[in-house]
Amino acid sequence: MNQQKMKIACVVGARPNFMKIAPILEAMKKYPQLQPILVHTGQHYDYEMSCVFFEDLDIPEPDVHLGVGSGSHAVQTAKIMIEFEKVALEYKPDLVLVVGDVNSTLACALVAAKLQIPVAHVEAGIRSFDKSMPEEINRILTDAVSDYLFVPTEHGCANLRREGIPEEKIFLVGDVMIDTLLKYKNKAATTPILDDLGLQKGNYALMTMHRPHNVDIKENLIKILRAIQEIQNKIQIVLPMHPRTRRRIEEFQLSEKISNMKNLIVLEPIGYLRFLNLMMNAQFVLTDSGGMQEETTVLNIPCLTLRENTERPETIDEGTNTLVGNDTQRIIEESFKILDGLGKAGTYPKLWDGHAAVRIVETLLGTR
Ligand code: UD1
Repeated sequence: MNQQKMKIACVVGARPNFMKIAPILEAMKKYPQLQPILVHTGQHYDYEMSCVFFEDLDIPEPDVHLGVGSGSHAVQTAKIMIEFEKVALEYKPDLVLVVGDVNSTLACALVAAKLQIPVAHVEAGIRSFDKSMPEEINRILTDAVSDYLFVPTEHGCANLRREGIPEEKIFLVGDVMIDTLLKYKNKAATTPILDDLGLQKGNYALMTMHRPHNVDIKENLIKILRAIQEIQNKIQIVLPMHPRTRRRIEEFQLSEKISNMKNLIVLEPIGYLRFLNLMMNAQFVLTDSGGMQEETTVLNIPCLTLRENTERPETIDEGTNTLVGNDTQRIIEESFKILDGLGKAGTYPKLWDGHAAVRIVETLLGTR
């Protein structure tokens, strides 16, 4: 009996992976013929960047922890490959399932492909067409070696066809991140974060930033901080700060600039539920995150994205997203528009309906 089980190595590594794997593991539980093996590469390792998501999203303890940690792109990717190859050889999975676009995603997909183990990529096909982003390289390469490409949107399918990926590998399933959002929305609403921070619904903006282009280049970081300086004169801004950003602010000696902004609340990174509560109740969101562009669109909260492009064009065309780059004036103007009641409202793709993970699992089982 055991031999007939389909062993699936499910890989996570960095923060944005956790909310994507949670609904897939949940959907797999219903099928005794599936045996998921959860592998955490350790790309993110702090409590706030990793453990808290396992607690908040009811993700089981990883079966295997590679403990790889931080490093340059080459070092991190290579270390993950070396460690994951050992795991793949020991566990002999029938399939390796990777999510998103982080270094862990590419590293494990590559190992599996070379060992002739089929690869499933969840969130396949999305493209920013900007190879200065490490994630874009990870996306293109992961998709190129994958056998099951699980795509969130029609746009994504069109991108894959353009790249010559055979039709039989492309599966339009919707967005697993939204599965998690819809499942945990009510629970998130019960967390006391607003009271804890002395905030009122709709009376603050939520901000995040961590992209190398925005925080590793001093001039760009300063341009964004100038905009925050202006905006926080009109509305409180809550900024849970990514460790990369915190490090850069110290290195560029900008800490005083930050602490002088009296209406800016800087926090450590926070877990899924409390963060979702902050997002749901914000007047608007300022971010360079990929996932938050989707989440704000589904929540119908205006989002200003601190980037010049996006791999999620639906959030612009249909949703609440506006690209503002890191141009100080543009960020301020668009923020003030929202404060004047002119924020974008919208809709979202039909398959962002909370059932993407079930479609993925049914496809793997051949029952869809
Ligand atoms: C990674 C992903 C990015 C994702 C982001 C979310 C890649 C290429 N990038 O970027 O797509 O949006 O995660 O957070 O995979 N650090 C800690 N503690 C941790 C993890 C990291 O302090 O738990 C610090 C380290 O100093 C590290 C730096 O943050 O060097 C960057 O971490 P890394 O995983 O290299 O990339 P992210 O910027 O987090």
